[in-house]
Amino acid sequence: MTPLVDIQNLSKSFPGVKALDGVRFDLMPGEVHALMGENGAGKSTLMKILAGVYRKDSGQMMLDGKAVEIDSPAHAQALAIGIIHQELHLMGHLTAAQNIYLGREPRRMAGLFLDEEQLNRDAQALFDRMHLALAPTTPIGELTVARQQMVEIAKALSHKSRVLIMDEPTAALNNAEIDDLFRIIRQLKSEGVGIVYISHKMDEIQRIADRITVMRDGAYIATVPATTPMPEVIAMMVGRKLEQAEKTIPDTSANEVLLDVRGLNRGRAIRDVSFTVRRGEILGFAGLMGAGRTEVARAVFGADPIESGEVHVRGQHIRLTSPQDAVQAGIGYLSEDRKHFGLATGMDVESNITLPSLKRWLKWGIFLNQPAIRTISQQMVEKLRIKTPSLTQTAKLLSGGNQQKVVIAKWLVQDCEVLIFDEPTRGIDVGAKSEIYKLLNELAAQGRAIIVISSELPEVLQLSHRVLVMCEGRITGEVRGDEATQENLMALATQREAEAPAAVH
Ligand SMILES: Nc1ncnc2c1ncn2[C@@H]1O[C@H](COP(=O)(O)OP(=O)(O)OP(=O)(O)O)[C@@H](O)[C@H]1O
Ligand SMILES: [Mg+2]
Repeated sequence: MTPLVDIQNLSKSFPGVKALDGVRFDLMPGEVHALMGENGAGKSTLMKILAGVYRKDSGQMMLDGKAVEIDSPAHAQALAIGIIHQELHLMGHLTAAQNIYLGREPRRMAGLFLDEEQLNRDAQALFDRMHLALAPTTPIGELTVARQQMVEIAKALSHKSRVLIMDEPTAALNNAEIDDLFRIIRQLKSEGVGIVYISHKMDEIQRIADRITVMRDGAYIATVPATTPMPEVIAMMVGRKLEQAEKTIPDTSANEVLLDVRGLNRGRAIRDVSFTVRRGEILGFAGLMGAGRTEVARAVFGADPIESGEVHVRGQHIRLTSPQDAVQAGIGYLSEDRKHFGLATGMDVESNITLPSLKRWLKWGIFLNQPAIRTISQQMVEKLRIKTPSLTQTAKLLSGGNQQKVVIAKWLVQDCEVLIFDEPTRGIDVGAKSEIYKLLNELAAQGRAIIVISSELPEVLQLSHRVLVMCEGRITGEVRGDEATQENLMALATQREAEAPAAVH
């Protein structure tokens, strides 16, 4: 069978970075081919070249056995190559349907008028096929990131692509949405579409992929069947042995309570939530997406108003009207939505890491201690393995995962005693994950209080000294870190409120 795509010896450099060095990759019709590698390995760059976003420096690309030069995204589209980018590209003020058919809207009356009805009907048909309950006329700006992602997928489907590239499509999806996506992928496979699937989630790869190609530092490492044991694949990805962090749970029961949250309420999102975290403790928050964990974090951080409840830090009742208040009181929050709340994309790596905590680097209250800033930034870059040609690289030029690491670094160097990390390792490669776990443990050992919200149960289990589980805005249970299992956490995460008892007369 002739491959749909056959890439040989492809190279691409950016200033200061050899992003791809003689890479090869092929895709068969009806195949899901996973592309794996650490953050900055070159996965997105390779696929952007196939999708006409970047031009290659050298190498060959063949489609259906014929050499091609793909010189623009429009050209790639014409060749039936579709891509769902790692970063969302939707226009907030347009509706879902308008986004999907942007620039190729159906027209009527000899092309004079936009046929909005047809547009919405077409979009509805796509959503139906995806089992997506979404009105085509909803403005994109009003959708959650997960639903925006689904619209991106609908858009790619609408192009009738024969090659479909998905760059971390599930980063913001919940399990049900992932199941829907996989159902769509299987259907496309049966229609002969070739799919390139990029993800850092091993379990997904094993469920959906046929073959895996591993890249490391811009180089091609190997192509193996997806049945290959994951430890082998990971070893190829990281090129070194990963040490499994030992989990020890310190006794913090006598330590000072740093954060004391009492009776927090907001509508149905947060219902009578109370908890404490002590110095040295890592408190995990488990639950399904939408359980209310992020809502609680945002309320404690002063990002959303509350209807009732109190937050005490070191025994002191604090008034939270804004995140500034929270940071002032020593509470830091790494948001799950880094794109909007975390990264100054136009600033360089060093400024992103150190600007928010600049006060720390003042000498005699006036001079900035530039060497100290350099040193701490450099340390963070090394510890988190942030792949960047220099500290002065503009943040937006880093790979997706490395941008996230920069935001994490920013909170790690802040002098906050209470740190809340919301989905800290989403989009982060396996190697860097274990580094982040180590750093969180160090911070706790230094006497800070750490809260980790994560949808990945293995992560909660690995990190937490104690786990709180939420469902429908309430805390449904608490489990000690050494007694927590996937099973008991899941049971609590799905403990919906009992039906209201019938009124007794
Ligand atoms: N436009 C650009 N300008 C400069 N450097 C870039 C640009 N795009 C990517 N790079 C660099 O090329 C390398 C490969 O990046 P790429 O985005 O392909 O990585 P990736 O494998 O997709 O990583 P991730 O898992 O983090 O998404 C990185 O070092 C990145 O910083
Ligand atoms: Mg990428």
